[in-house]
Amino acid sequence: MAQPCAPWLLAANWKMNMDHLQTLEFIRELSVLLPRGEGEGGGAEMAIFPPFTSLRTAQVFSASYGVPLSLGAQDVSPHSSGAFTGEVSASMLERLGCRYVLVGHSESRKNHHETKEELVGKAKNSIASRMTPILCVGEKEKGGEGIGEACRQAEEVFCDLSPEERAKVIVSYEPVWAIGSSTTASPERISDAACALKADLLEKFGASPRILYGGSVNEGNIESLKGLGLGGFLVGRASLRISF
Ligand code: 13P
Repeated sequence: MAQPCAPWLLAANWKMNMDHLQTLEFIRELSVLLPRGEGEGGGAEMAIFPPFTSLRTAQVFSASYGVPLSLGAQDVSPHSSGAFTGEVSASMLERLGCRYVLVGHSESRKNHHETKEELVGKAKNSIASRMTPILCVGEKEKGGEGIGEACRQAEEVFCDLSPEERAKVIVSYEPVWAIGSSTTASPERISDAACALKADLLEKFGASPRILYGGSVNEGNIESLKGLGLGGFLVGRASLRISF
């Protein structure tokens, strides 16, 4: 994985890829590329978001190989426990060493028709289990009043959080049209969206979250996106390559 400058978060959203054996192999290869201890202290943080079934493997083997990786989950239940077949609670993720949880990724929003109440519950439960929610927001269509759509998505969750909870959320600007495509949003667009999100959340809630960008980031374009005042990147396809 590319090493960004401090204090960036380089977050690898593996989506529904990498079973536990592939995860083990990835971490073993990373341990060769990234000797024990390297990456610590530099301020840059690498985090992987594997499928639920690979989290335990990632937890155990990143520790045993001494690979400085943080762990995140791709989703979480808005409920704490009980009769919710197929769901995984925040406390279960915390016990697997997760530090981050994606909330409201556009693919989850679309495939699971997540409601505002569920998104708020996911964020609150993550925070209550000492994890950081990464709230994904972004417009569906290119152009138009897209940045306003991203701001509204952030607002609808922030408005139901306490000031203490708001201070613990990271926001990832991920225009849906740039995800899984052949190109990122332009640096100007990303910068405008990050500024708009920051200004909006500061004005309405007094919050100043860290802003990430996601959408077709890869080893060929990440350099051109540094220096936009972002707190890091959420990378999909390219993060499956050990060379990234
Ligand atoms: P791609 O990098 O494959 O476009 O995916 C981005 C993404 O969905 C990050 O959460």
